[in-house]
Amino acid sequence: MRVLGIESSCDETGVALYDSSSGALVHALHSQVDLHRAYGGVVPELASRDHVQRLLPLINDVLQRAGAKRQDIDAIAVTAGPGLAGALLVGCGVAAGLGYALGKPVVPVHHLEGHLLSPLLGNPAPAFPFVSLLVSGGHTQFLQVLSPGQYALLGDTLDDAAGEAFDKTAQMLGLGYPGGPEVSRLAMAGVPGALRLPRPMIDSPTLDMSFSGLKTAVLTAVQRMDPASESARADIARAFVDAVVDVLTAKAVQALARTGLSDLVVAGGVGANVQLRAGLDQAITARSGRVYYPPAQLCTDNGAMIAYAGYVRLAREGAGATRAGARPLRVHPRWDLCNLDAD
Ligand code: KG4
Ligand code: ZN
Repeated sequence: MRVLGIESSCDETGVALYDSSSGALVHALHSQVDLHRAYGGVVPELASRDHVQRLLPLINDVLQRAGAKRQDIDAIAVTAGPGLAGALLVGCGVAAGLGYALGKPVVPVHHLEGHLLSPLLGNPAPAFPFVSLLVSGGHTQFLQVLSPGQYALLGDTLDDAAGEAFDKTAQMLGLGYPGGPEVSRLAMAGVPGALRLPRPMIDSPTLDMSFSGLKTAVLTAVQRMDPASESARADIARAFVDAVVDVLTAKAVQALARTGLSDLVVAGGVGANVQLRAGLDQAITARSGRVYYPPAQLCTDNGAMIAYAGYVRLAREGAGATRAGARPLRVHPRWDLCNLDAD
């Protein structure tokens, strides 16, 4: 089965063609980072307009590189939420039109389910069940994953997502957008322990987290530092990264202990962070567990994870996964991953 995947929930237009029999995957991505950089964050209207311009050429590019025609597509998977409403509408509109024209099913995919299942495209791939850490610009969640579609929330952030804290810290330190990779790079030049920032909720008995207090602590440190000192900025970045890594690592270990599972699967943009990977690898291999990550190019938003998640849903649910006939395709700017059928 060949599934076309379309992702347009935020600031990346992603398209992929996944062939379930050969495992072949061709994907193309257009990042809008340059478009939004001047504003320091994503401007929803600009994002939607850019998706309109990029989507069809990307679909043509992917089909051409895969040596496939539109008629060769067996199903279309599209991100239906959560995300920016206008941006989601672009992807869903194209998917619905293409599905109608080709007479092929359209599968609405939850963006986070795409991230969550993306490590299964790696080699080696994790086996169910496992604990998943979804850590992106909008979400920081631990989930118990029993099988595709069966997700139980173990813990969530009570305020900011970890990626959001990275982006805000980058802004406060005068770094570029998106902030995560820049903060990570600057932190490498910082001295460990030169400054210590709080590790919010690290000792709380729940798996919930909070990052807004840490953000405020960064602001206070920035206000106190010598603005001319490059090393002071690096020390703040280092202290921030160490605090986030300590919290996520401690909660990951707790999540595994609580569920009795041994493997952790990490997904979402912050999962690309080298310091986080080192912290998790060390703590979890020490408990004889394994940590899995998506292939590097599939950590941030992309169409491949959507094509794959759509395929998994189709394989599991058949026609029930599609919104053919009476059930129109709808976008869900907010959508609970543990309640996928809510419409
Ligand atoms: O999953 P993603 O591409 O988009 C969604 O939010 O769904 O994640 C984007 C987030 C941004 O906050 C970005 O700063 C962060 O992931 N990020 C990183 C790194 N690469 C991306 N954060 C820390 N270190 C990185 N290397
Ligand atoms: Zn994402």
